[in-house]
Amino acid sequence: MAPHDDDLDTNVSTNPHISEVIGERLLDPSRRTLLKSGLGLGALSFMGVSASFLSGCLEDQGGPKRPNALTFKALPKSMADAVSVPAGYTATVLYRLGDPLDPGIGDYANDGTDAATSFAMRAGDHHDGMHFFGLGRNGKHHEHAADRALLCINHEAITPLFVHPNGQTVVAGARTVPDEVLREFYLHGVSVVEIERDANGGWRYRKDSKFNRRIHTLTEMALSGPAAGSPFIATKYSPDGTRTRGTVNNCANGHTPWVTYLTCEENWAGYFRRIAANDNPSRTSKELTAFARYGVAGNGRELWATVTPDTQDDLYGRWNAEVRGASADADYRNGPNAFGWVVEIDPFDPAGMPRKRTAMGRFAHEGAWPAKVKAGKPLVYYMGCDSRNEYIYKYVSNERWNPSDANRGAAAGDKYLDDGRLYVAQFNADGTGKWMELKFGTAPLDASNPAYAFASQADVLIHARLAADALGATKMDRPEWGAVDPLTGAVYMTLTNNNATLRPLAATDAANPRHYNDPRTDGTAQRGNPNGHIIRWLETGEDPAAPTFRWDIFLFGARSTADTANINVSQLDADNDFSSPDGVWFSEATNVCWIETDDGAYTDVTNCMLLAALPGSVGDGMAKTITNTEAAGNTNVVQTHVGAPPGAKLKRFLVGPVQCEITGLAESPDGKALFLNIQHPGEETPVANLSNPSSTWPGGPGTRPRSATIVITRDDGGVIGV
Ligand code: FEO
Ligand code: CA
Ligand code: CA
Repeated sequence: MAPHDDDLDTNVSTNPHISEVIGERLLDPSRRTLLKSGLGLGALSFMGVSASFLSGCLEDQGGPKRPNALTFKALPKSMADAVSVPAGYTATVLYRLGDPLDPGIGDYANDGTDAATSFAMRAGDHHDGMHFFGLGRNGKHHEHAADRALLCINHEAITPLFVHPNGQTVVAGARTVPDEVLREFYLHGVSVVEIERDANGGWRYRKDSKFNRRIHTLTEMALSGPAAGSPFIATKYSPDGTRTRGTVNNCANGHTPWVTYLTCEENWAGYFRRIAANDNPSRTSKELTAFARYGVAGNGRELWATVTPDTQDDLYGRWNAEVRGASADADYRNGPNAFGWVVEIDPFDPAGMPRKRTAMGRFAHEGAWPAKVKAGKPLVYYMGCDSRNEYIYKYVSNERWNPSDANRGAAAGDKYLDDGRLYVAQFNADGTGKWMELKFGTAPLDASNPAYAFASQADVLIHARLAADALGATKMDRPEWGAVDPLTGAVYMTLTNNNATLRPLAATDAANPRHYNDPRTDGTAQRGNPNGHIIRWLETGEDPAAPTFRWDIFLFGARSTADTANINVSQLDADNDFSSPDGVWFSEATNVCWIETDDGAYTDVTNCMLLAALPGSVGDGMAKTITNTEAAGNTNVVQTHVGAPPGAKLKRFLVGPVQCEITGLAESPDGKALFLNIQHPGEETPVANLSNPSSTWPGGPGTRPRSATIVITRDDGGVIGV
């Protein structure tokens, strides 16, 4: 099995990776040197950074300061089938695949025999993004509650081998055991689970909480915002296009100041069945362009639509996106248009209907990360579309934040998340960038666009990737998580990796500046940008809604043994070398930046990991020339802008078990409990090895591996990481 089946790479637009290769401007020697020499004011204003900001930031913003040093001893890389943390810390398993959310449901047998319907109230699989919502003694949200909370946890996907008696039963290309498919419907989605700290400082989840809830692929949801009710989303289930069933491939997340959770639909396209030979003759050329751009093609990754006979309410057939009926309200030809959104859930309202917020655009949503909220200012969310050569987006609400809306729950969502502007990023070679609005009605976002004639704002939002192509957005090396530094306001976004096939040498650019070979220890070549990097930017005037920004590259993943001139540009060492950054997240208690990996490149040496970082600020490094070489020996010299090497301000804090991804980060507001997710340990186990899987974490020998939420505490009860 491919280690990660989450890559649907469909950007065939002619957009360059970067828009301008002329006007290259080198700030050399380093900007820091320029500042010291007194020659830097022009450069600084060019960077959008004021001198007072540079001298005062990181310590004088009113909140907690960023520590000067990370006090724990860095962990070595590891291939052990275990979760390792530094001395003085403990990692405890909290909430595993199959754990019951109701006292009436038995413990998980973990052998594939648990009844399919019981999963309606069991933990799903592949724990991913999550958020901690403090719960006060009165049973209501309390922002400072640190001992009791609702944890919202995404369940992105499944490892089918471990959830059925002997993996998926497939005969002649069809699923023949409907109960297995039903189990999978429940295993995707979101958990809302109450957790509490016990008298010893440890954490447990409560089986009996009235807030416990599973949201899955069968949960009814409202479509909301400008694309809701449009003919593009009409289905047999909802002929007026205002409802759909379920959410799927819930990757990372976000949250709102009115205390709701945002779960983001990433690789939804792969779940739909659409056989080109059956369907293409019935489709318009616009529809075919859209399907190709979003990757809606094939059998469907879990073959859900192949179950026969179907149920009265099309439980299985709703995953078939082919034209089968007389009209759009007689089949699910538009089914895929109800997926690919940011979905809002109110964890404090167990009966509340989740809402898909169409104003935030439809793409492979990794997550939705809020800028700092300020009264009287718009709300801003940063979002990545995670596929190779996709884009970075920003949503800006039209309404300005009124703190009195903080208690309105999901009702506030209609005000701020249904009415706003969606932008896509263009990174320029000179270290500047701009946001371009996806607004219908002005060329190229109208009927004149040659690749796809846009008909309405709903059309633009549903086909945001095509709109971004038309605007000339910058192709990136797979945008995953984003995070806003609470101290500086700088936005960090991981670009997890790219390969030489999809991003050849000639497409290397300043924002995606490396193209190299990272050979595995057995000599296998890995070409392109297999180790990824983290870009960051500062909006002009430190205003999240600004139309322009300045960027640099905070960190480059690499083996510490790689060439520091062109590959290990961040000069990583044995204490902090990493590959394929995915999660990036700032603690609001400590301002430590945490980085998680979802890697397939450095796995000859280490399992995936969590690192802690103490970043500086955009522009703290230098201009840098990188010479890239491809297999044939051709070279391409790229000038870029890199942050200061992190040195001891980046340290490995945790290494996970075999074949896992480290993801999801949340904390108690006192900073004394850090929650994260171990996703899909042992996922590459061949079917023949089911009784001897590659990982047996967390149960140990003789058990099947399980995705799980863990909590890290310090043995002396202190704050994590510092
Ligand atoms: Fe679900 Fe892009 O990771
Ligand atoms: Ca991810
Ligand atoms: Ca990933």
